[in-house]
Amino acid sequence: MQTLTVGLAERSYPIYIGSDLLGCAELLLPHLPHKRAAVVTNTTVAPLYLDPLRATLQAHGVNMIPIILPDGEQHKNAETLGLIYDALLSHRCERNTPLIALGGGVIGDMTGYAAATYLRGVPFIQIPTTLLAQVDSSVGGKTGINHPLGKNMIGAFYQPQVVLADITTLNTLSDQELRAGIAEVIKYGLIRDLSFFEWLEQNMEKLLARDADALQYAITRSCQNKAEVVAADERENGERALLNLGHTFGHAIETGMGYGAWLHGEAVAAGTIMAADLSCRLGWLSKEDTDRIRGLFERAGLPVIAPALGVEKYLQLMGLDKKVVGGKIRFVLLKSIGCAVISGDVQPELLRQTLVANSAHG
Ligand code: NAD
Ligand code: GLY
Repeated sequence: MQTLTVGLAERSYPIYIGSDLLGCAELLLPHLPHKRAAVVTNTTVAPLYLDPLRATLQAHGVNMIPIILPDGEQHKNAETLGLIYDALLSHRCERNTPLIALGGGVIGDMTGYAAATYLRGVPFIQIPTTLLAQVDSSVGGKTGINHPLGKNMIGAFYQPQVVLADITTLNTLSDQELRAGIAEVIKYGLIRDLSFFEWLEQNMEKLLARDADALQYAITRSCQNKAEVVAADERENGERALLNLGHTFGHAIETGMGYGAWLHGEAVAAGTIMAADLSCRLGWLSKEDTDRIRGLFERAGLPVIAPALGVEKYLQLMGLDKKVVGGKIRFVLLKSIGCAVISGDVQPELLRQTLVANSAHG
């Protein structure tokens, strides 16, 4: 098992990464002094992992209140969030009752937001069970829900007390979901870690085959990168925005296609290709590196062509991005592999060229 720390002074917390951690009560018990916890999960994850977690907790006298939500990005909304509050209130959960998120990023984001707002804040624990959630969404405290007009538009920064990434849970993940997580892994290499990008080029097949050592390495290195960025800029006043490489385009794809039609990681993949293409058109990223990036996403089995929403629709949806300042879209772009920058200085004609060249026509 590897242990990392997200360094946020008195709100610092550990990330545990390893195999069979769901059975390791000693990692959770320090955070459950009142012997009661609400576990939020969904209809897919509950039959797989709720009983093992319950057994671990019960063996140490911790009473679990299960809250099982419908599965899917289309349920990451105010209505489903209400189901969490309903259950917490009907079980008379108190300020000292922690909420445990057991699932992927959708469950983690919603549970975190419920934890931030129920009784104005209760303790929060992340047990991510998708690759995407283990490398990205469970770390850093971004929580929230979607709005019909825009992705993740309602939310709060609210840090967990501990993140428990049990790599064994990835064995039941579909290949498509595994690949979606790899999109966020590649992101870290692109924005700030050239040697990790090179490692991914050498080890992509091992990752796709779920080689345990390769997964452990990729998750740890991703979390190291994320923890450093979050510790430096928790509230996204600067560097943290770089973690959104490909997301301005990606969120437009998710909202435009209808939540759940494209997986988040798939939309980020196609969006990152657009960001690389735009960086190349600006004369920053070489053609060779742009092709190299596309090649790695293709080898990961991820989409490199965005869906046919039409240029005007893309522009309208991207105008709702959280990075927009004074009505101006700010893009995360690449100077080279391993070096990202944020820029609001993109000629509209170049943006249009990128959207046309990298999306399907239909
Ligand atoms: P997800 O939560 O929808 O999970 C993907 C699918 O896998 C779901 O059907 C889920 O039920 C299933 N699943 C989960 N664990 C499983 C397991 N071990 N075995 C079998 N099936 C399993 O999607 P995701 O990719 O984990 O997360 C995407 C969400 O995360 C998006 O809403 C995105 O906006 C959010 N996100 C948040 C942050 C952040 O910083 N908070 C960062 C990145 C993404
Ligand atoms: N996933 C982007 C962030 O955490 O900032």
